[in-house]
Parts: sequence; C-alpha cells; structure tokens
Amino acid sequence: MDRFSLLFLLLSSVVASAVVFDVNSDGDPLIRQVVSDGGVEEDSDDHLLNAEHHFTLFKSKYGKTYASQEEHDYRLGVFKANLRRAKRHQLLDPSAVHGVTKFSDLTPSEFRRQYLGLKPLKLPADAQKAPILPTDNLPDDFDWRDHGAVTGVKDQGSCGSCWSFSATGALEGAHYLATGELVSLSEQQLVDCDHECDPQQYGACDSGCNGGLMTSAFEYTLKVGGLEREKDYPYIGNDRGPCKFDKTKIAASVSNFSVISVDEDQIAANLVKHGPLAVGINAVFMQTYMGGVSCPYICFRTLDHGVLLVGYGAAGYSPIRFKDKPFWIIKNSWGANWGEDGYYKICRGRNVCGVDSMVSSVAALHTKSQ
Ligand SMILES: *[C@@H]1O[C@H](CO)[C@@H](O)[C@H](O)[C@H]1NC(C)=O
Repeated sequence: MDRFSLLFLLLSSVVASAVVFDVNSDGDPLIRQVVSDGGVEEDSDDHLLNAEHHFTLFKSKYGKTYASQEEHDYRLGVFKANLRRAKRHQLLDPSAVHGVTKFSDLTPSEFRRQYLGLKPLKLPADAQKAPILPTDNLPDDFDWRDHGAVTGVKDQGSCGSCWSFSATGALEGAHYLATGELVSLSEQQLVDCDHECDPQQYGACDSGCNGGLMTSAFEYTLKVGGLEREKDYPYIGNDRGPCKFDKTKIAASVSNFSVISVDEDQIAANLVKHGPLAVGINAVFMQTYMGGVSCPYICFRTLDHGVLLVGYGAAGYSPIRFKDKPFWIIKNSWGANWGEDGYYKICRGRNVCGVDSMVSSVAALHTKSQ
C-alpha cells in the first residue's frame, strides 16, 4: 500500500471513531455544544451568538479584561478561530476533550511565544547515557504523586520558562528520593542565573523567558552547587532582574544526570527507579486540551515544551478502539486551572507528539536542606 492510501485509511478511521466518540461521550455539555455542533453552519447567526456567549463566560471565568474595544473585538475573533481549532483537535484526538481553555484568546504563535520555551540545544558535556535497566517486574500503574515526590502544580505565567519548571520538578523528585524531604525549588534562579550555552551552536543558550533546555539547567546546577528553595528565591515570571543566587542558601544539589534512550520500557524503568523525568513534547494539542488521554492521530514531533513525567497508567480511557491503551501522566506548569488540575495525559506506545524523544533523569546529592 502506498503512503497516500495509508493516510487516507488513517483519516477515514479518524472520522469514523470521532463520530462514535461524540455519540457515546458524556463530557462537558458546553464543549460538546461548541465542538460537536456538526449541523450548524460555521458562520450562521446561531453559531456567532453561541461563540459570543462562550466568550463572555470565558472572560468571567478567567478574569480577562481588554484595554480597548478594538482589542476586545480582535480577541473575540481569535477566540472564534480557537473554537474551530478545538473542534478540529477533537476530531484528530477523540480520546481527549478539547474546548475552551485559559489560552483561548491567544493565537497559536502568541501561545508558543509566551507559554512554552523549550530550546532543543545540544546536550551538555556532563550528560551521560542512562545505563539499560531491567524492565520485567515493572508495575502496571505508577504515579510519583502517590509516593510524595511531587510538589504542587506551579504556573510559569507569560514567560517561556517551561524548561526551568521541568528541571526543578525532576530535581525536587530526585532530592526527595535521596533525602526523604520534598522541597519546592527555585525556577527564578534558573531564569536569572543559568545562561549555559551549547558549545557547538553560537547563541544557543538557556535564556530565561526566551527558552532553555533541562539538561543544560542540570549542567548549570551541577556547576554552581545547587538550587535554592522556591521560598528563598521566589518566581516572578520575568527575566529582567539580576542573578541573586546565594550559595549559602542551597537546598538541593545535582550529583549526576543522564539521557534516556527513545524506548518506552526504559523510560518507565528509569521513572520508577530515579523519580520524575524531564521530558520535551510538542504542545500544539495542549492549547485546547481540557482532559482525558490525548492520543492525536497526527502530531508533529518537533519539541517545543518542557514538562515533567511523573507516572503512567495501563488503561483508563473509553473510546472502544483505544480500550486498554496505556498513557503517561505529565505535570505541566500552567497552573492548576489548566488540563486535569494542571496535569496532562498522553498515550504511550508510539512516541506521540515526540514525548519519548528527549527524556532526562537527574540524581541528587544526599544532603538535606537546612
Ligand atoms: C548516576 O550515576 C550512577 C553511578 O554511575 C548511575 O548508576 C545512575 O544511573 C546515575 N543516575 C542518573 C540519574 O544519571
């Protein structure tokens, strides 16, 4: 079979299963109304009234205000385009729920610029390849939240600093495994002070709200001795201030870190053994994601967002054709009012959205914070 007929088969099954899902779904009625109003013409009066109504709800739910009527009308237009996008995402990704999120008044490029921030730099010199671990006897379900290794969901705000949250999350988990204490660590220290560069690529450096890479953040942390606590060096969400790192306040230190091969069993084994893992992902479906297991038929593997892998599950989402497909549990840094209380689920099995492509693990020194 040539590529085109394969693609055609794939697309026809997209439509078929999407219909099944819509019929059986008992998701949020508002979203079903928005994204599955198949019978309504895109720009009929009905649909526009509907969109304006949802925009009013959206503004009050997320406390949005706009400086001028012009800005308001422009944002309403963006919001409408995002409703249509959510509808397309729903068709391509029927096991998740897509609809209105706190990012629904942003264009895709504004969203990428302000809320992502992963720079795929080269690996730093100290990154090792993770040794191959045994994979028999892995539990079917595993979640580091049940073992006290994960801090509460944080919010990077409008700053491309995802990489720093992914890195602190991994070190928070590793520090917990090494010392038994869970300490929330400082992203702002990384944003202000970590300017690690890729030696092979001019200008490719960790750069605050303009992006960075988790393994470079581990390299920085290894070099300077460690990270301060969140409460000693709190997050302000911009990169305009000087570095205020105080060595006497180090709360957690890196002992070593490594990169895990693109192998889901190795990823799971490293997760269980070493704690939450820093991962890169393509975030295009995350702008409209509301819940469920994201498993888009088509998703680019260009990585643009850094997140934290905290666990996995064996089953748990309903559309018939996906029954018993396993998923990864991902901690994001967009606050608890996004996704499933701040978390994202993405299916395992075929490197969907590149989730298996850039996975790193860190180990902490056995030094308790004072
Ligand atoms: C750290 O180094 C030890 C000893 O070489 C190794 O066994 C372990 O896998 C490493 N851990 C990480 C997270 O890189």
